[in-house]
Amino acid sequence: MVTPMIRDPTGFLRQEYQALVDQSLDWKMRVLSGPSTPWCQIDGKRLLMFCSNNYLGLSNHPRLKAAAEEAVRTHGVGSGSVRPIAGTMDLHLELERRLAKFKGAEASLVFQTGFATNAGLLPQLAGEGDLIISDELNHGSIIDGVRLSRADKAVYKHADVEDLTRVLAHAEEHSPSYRRLLVITDGVFSMDGDIAPLDRIAKVAKDHGAMVYVDDAHGEGVLGEGGRGILSHFHLSRSDVQVEMGTFSKAFGVVGGHVSGSQDLVNFAFNKSRTWLLSGSHPPPVAAACLAAVDVLEQEPQHVARLWELTRRFKRSMKDLGFNIGRSETPITPVIVGESRRAKELSDRLMELGVFALPIVFPMVAKDQARIRTIMNAALTDEDVAFAQGAFEKAGRELKIL
Ligand SMILES: Cc1ncc(COP(=O)(O)O)c(C=O)c1O
Repeated sequence: MVTPMIRDPTGFLRQEYQALVDQSLDWKMRVLSGPSTPWCQIDGKRLLMFCSNNYLGLSNHPRLKAAAEEAVRTHGVGSGSVRPIAGTMDLHLELERRLAKFKGAEASLVFQTGFATNAGLLPQLAGEGDLIISDELNHGSIIDGVRLSRADKAVYKHADVEDLTRVLAHAEEHSPSYRRLLVITDGVFSMDGDIAPLDRIAKVAKDHGAMVYVDDAHGEGVLGEGGRGILSHFHLSRSDVQVEMGTFSKAFGVVGGHVSGSQDLVNFAFNKSRTWLLSGSHPPPVAAACLAAVDVLEQEPQHVARLWELTRRFKRSMKDLGFNIGRSETPITPVIVGESRRAKELSDRLMELGVFALPIVFPMVAKDQARIRTIMNAALTDEDVAFAQGAFEKAGRELKIL
């Protein structure tokens, strides 16, 4: 008699986790006790925050906190439903109206997160019989959105408009029956801090009749006039870039995603995006805090100006010290050290010296490109930035990176 093989249905959970631990690829959660301010309490230690996405320091801004508190008082803590049924509150509509005005778009639609925006909208904009053409370094939420779409996919070399042109021309020549072509790119690339050449991308896309979708998660609140984002940075119009996606979880300091563009786009997006239709809407304090963030961006331009002042100063001094800070043009400044082990050692030493800046290692970046990804924050003082530089210099010399 043959003994039946007994499967262990969940054994893979421990095995796969252990494999990550063995390669030091597992995530260890660092815990903030208190707000994300320049100096934070992290794992019980007072550290200078140097790697959050809270570019403008808005996550602890008094106007955002007051707006959230007030919304709890007036609207409660939950919306009670998904947006299309009973979960659209006046706060959600007001946020969309104000955001569209800030962005200079006909309309905006707010999603629960930036990830939900890409994962929900992309599969509707393109499907079977369409082609999505994507930068090789696009964010994971775009990659997942593309996978869900069932469209054909082509990848062009990072920020390489010539390669994009080649892909578009090839599609035109060999597959003229595609219904739609969609070119998609991050606006600012999150690992390197470089900016997509969106002006040239838009031009090539127009020449080939393709729609352009930009993910401006790291450009909003950072690039362009008063932080209006990448379209403003390149002086592009809505006919150049038809779909602008963004997030409230970075410079806006709260959480949530959005798509901005024409009224047609928004009508289409909210009637079709499954992540929007089938998932609960933002709690009132979230919507109110996002609304207050738009007000702050409009009325307090000093935060964006300060972010850039500190960014320029930090980049200059890190370069002068001899660090490899890559090709960044934005407040994301990678400090590239090579092997994963080196990046981890540098991060650990920085933490001992009082600076919180985590390593980014393979597979998030190439094996020899491990780095500490620093992100500037407008709420830092001059002394804070000097403190961080000092720590980098000391650790860099001790570890023979300098
Ligand atoms: C380029 C990019 N797109 C989208 C997202 C997702 O945004 P959210 O945090 O709002 O889900 C992120 C966040 O890491 C991002 O960096």
